[in-house]
Amino acid sequence: MESKERMLITGGIPLEGRIRVSGGKNTSVAVIPAALLSDDIVTIENLPDIEDVRALVDILNALGAKVVYAPGEFMRIDPRGVESHHVGYRYARRLRASYYFLGALLGRCGEASVALPGGCEIGQRPIDQHLKGFHTLGVETEERGGMINAYAENLEGGDIFFDVVSVGATINAMLAAVKANGTTNIHNPAKEPHIVDLANFLNSMGARVKGAGTDLIRIRGVRQLHSTTYAVIPDQIETGTLMIAAAATRGDVIIQGCIPQHMESLTAKLLEMGIKVSDSDDAIRVRTLGAQRAVSVKTAVYPGFPTDLQQPMCALLTTAHGTSMVTETIFENRFKHLDELRRMGAQIRVVDRVAMIEGVPQLYGAPVNATDLRAGAALVIAGLMAHGTTEIYQPEYIDRGYENIEQKLCSLGASIRRETLI
Ligand code: UD1
Repeated sequence: MESKERMLITGGIPLEGRIRVSGGKNTSVAVIPAALLSDDIVTIENLPDIEDVRALVDILNALGAKVVYAPGEFMRIDPRGVESHHVGYRYARRLRASYYFLGALLGRCGEASVALPGGCEIGQRPIDQHLKGFHTLGVETEERGGMINAYAENLEGGDIFFDVVSVGATINAMLAAVKANGTTNIHNPAKEPHIVDLANFLNSMGARVKGAGTDLIRIRGVRQLHSTTYAVIPDQIETGTLMIAAAATRGDVIIQGCIPQHMESLTAKLLEMGIKVSDSDDAIRVRTLGAQRAVSVKTAVYPGFPTDLQQPMCALLTTAHGTSMVTETIFENRFKHLDELRRMGAQIRVVDRVAMIEGVPQLYGAPVNATDLRAGAALVIAGLMAHGTTEIYQPEYIDRGYENIEQKLCSLGASIRRETLI
């Protein structure tokens, strides 16, 4: 991606105040394609106004759906006019989750042709498990000319055994199974909060999905899905990013409208570092009083420590007392942000999938490059911590997943602005 803008952050200001978290990105990018399964109009609320959501609107329109999108209010999707089952590269390259149109279109009309997806460069990201799920349901697939073509005469329920726990493959299997004949059992599914949210959304349209969030999801196929109005859950990763930003600037922030239960693995690590975290039903307060201690972090599937917060967490750990060990177990290439953090004075050694972060007293502002969405979030946090000014190139990556990130942080006292590059 060529950088058209840069973000300028003057660091060293403790974040203070209250901030409301937006709707979840990862749930939105599943729920929006899932609307195609309905046989009537669907209204979705609490969607974040981010680039990935806008890309999905373009795909829905190209497929023939009628979409009314009022950012911050609702998205109304009328899928009744959809006749195409083709999502070309022009659209699919804009976001990884474009592959959810495979499951959604298969569920809708038994046929889908979707270009191999774009998205963040954080590793190989194969789709063999997605295809395994489809094959179990009687779908034939072929990969040709950069497209995945999938077709089923009849979708038949079956027992899907995933070899690895995959969020994307679990969602695609759910989408393809809700209108299949008979019962589908998904064994070894992902249990992330947005899997449960997608199940709740599908059930609100009349689907019969049970067990989402456990080790076995059971779906009894139905013939028709009806109209619904559904609000997606708050963003777990934005909540975590804001919690880390509050701690990293030694501030005092109350994050409102979140689900504290989704944040337990991060909360535990922050407490271990000596950071104060308290919560109520739908808010979390984070503040730092004394020194921050180094900790070991290992990413894992939910309810473990999310890989999407590994990068922001690394920024926080650059100034913690002692040596932190961060192990990335989900994606093999999710350490690109570490080179950028080193440019700001961080002391980090990497051996295989383990980053050893030796705490330094201070980071210093520098020009850095956002290589992917969460790497960008890590650099924003590092910029807020650093002495002097940090220039972040390719901030457009950050816009794919965070709604109004600089406005939100500025409302807490941060000094951030954006410039267009000529
Ligand atoms: C989703 C999230 C992403 C998060 C990730 C892990 C969305 C839109 N994105 O991505 O933010 O970082 O979960 O929590 O929800 N794998 C296979 N074969 C497959 C599919 C996956 O081997 O067919 C492997 C991947 O290479 C990776 C692991 O499984 O090592 C987890 O990937 P997966 O859960 O599928 O991630 P995404 O759904 O792409």
